[in-house]
Amino acid sequence: MAEDLNQSGGEAPEFKLFAHQGFNLISGIHSSEVVDKIQNFEIRDSDVFVITYPKSGTIWLQQILSLIEVKGDVTATSDEQNSERIPWMELMNPEKPFESAPSPRIRVSHLAYKFMPVGLKQKKGKVIYVARNPKDVLVSYYHFHKYANMLETPKDFDEFFEKFMEGNVFGSCWFEHVKAWYSHKDEMNFLYITYEEMIKDLRSVVERITSFLGKNLTSQQLNDVVEHSIFKNMKNNPQANYEQVPAILLNHQVGAFLRKGIVGDWKNCFTVAQNERFDKVYQQRMKDIPLSFIWDMSNLITP
Ligand code: A3P
Repeated sequence: MAEDLNQSGGEAPEFKLFAHQGFNLISGIHSSEVVDKIQNFEIRDSDVFVITYPKSGTIWLQQILSLIEVKGDVTATSDEQNSERIPWMELMNPEKPFESAPSPRIRVSHLAYKFMPVGLKQKKGKVIYVARNPKDVLVSYYHFHKYANMLETPKDFDEFFEKFMEGNVFGSCWFEHVKAWYSHKDEMNFLYITYEEMIKDLRSVVERITSFLGKNLTSQQLNDVVEHSIFKNMKNNPQANYEQVPAILLNHQVGAFLRKGIVGDWKNCFTVAQNERFDKVYQQRMKDIPLSFIWDMSNLITP
């Protein structure tokens, strides 16, 4: 998640969750007016929207798409942070209006399906939806709440678990987010990928993305995209790791955007009872949707 992060400076605004049409945003960085404008934007065929629920690997896609644009040449991305190169749709910078931005307009967004430009449903532009198993999303989001100054610090994991299950967080309910986007996929030019697939075989996901975008990269260029998108290299890359986001928004003393980058961290946090409860809710809420997730590292090891 975050912001036209580098625009922020000076005194901290008051950050608070507020619901807009039943979807939780954050005051001080989001506004209902901006969100409402998005639907009517004229969409170009070259527009690309990366849609994620928070903590599903948005920053990873910003890096991958930035690198695909420059055919894997990481030096060509050193002049600008990825959050500027591929900004947030819901955090529009009035000095760089979306309407007049040069093509290709590549944007990320955590917004619910109902807010997105109508043109997408007429098969204009492209949508890449990235989903991550929600138990790991919950854990990543818990840690992020301690690190991000624009989010309320949870008392403890148990309290945050309840908030997440109620959808009482920015982005609202994980189940609703993925279900709404996925169930409308046939209306759009839509690519669905998961965080876990990227962990398992990043190169094949990068190939799927490049072919979806109609880009031709050589094998070496694909290798370069992959190499500069692996966790350790992103963590050390100031354009890619959000370390330049001002302290008003992120407390770099207590955390890092690239935290662990693994599958199955939920096992270190969930109690048995929480896990059972989560599974029950998951089965109920996801029963109509043909999606499955990889829940731990052992599922990633191919025999
Ligand atoms: P963890 O907190 O579990 O480590 P988002 O950008 O949507 O907020 O997602 C952030 C999550 O994606 C963090 O998860 C972060 O570590 C993980 N992530 C980002 N880049 C990654 C990469 N190259 N490899 C693996 N995980 C990555």
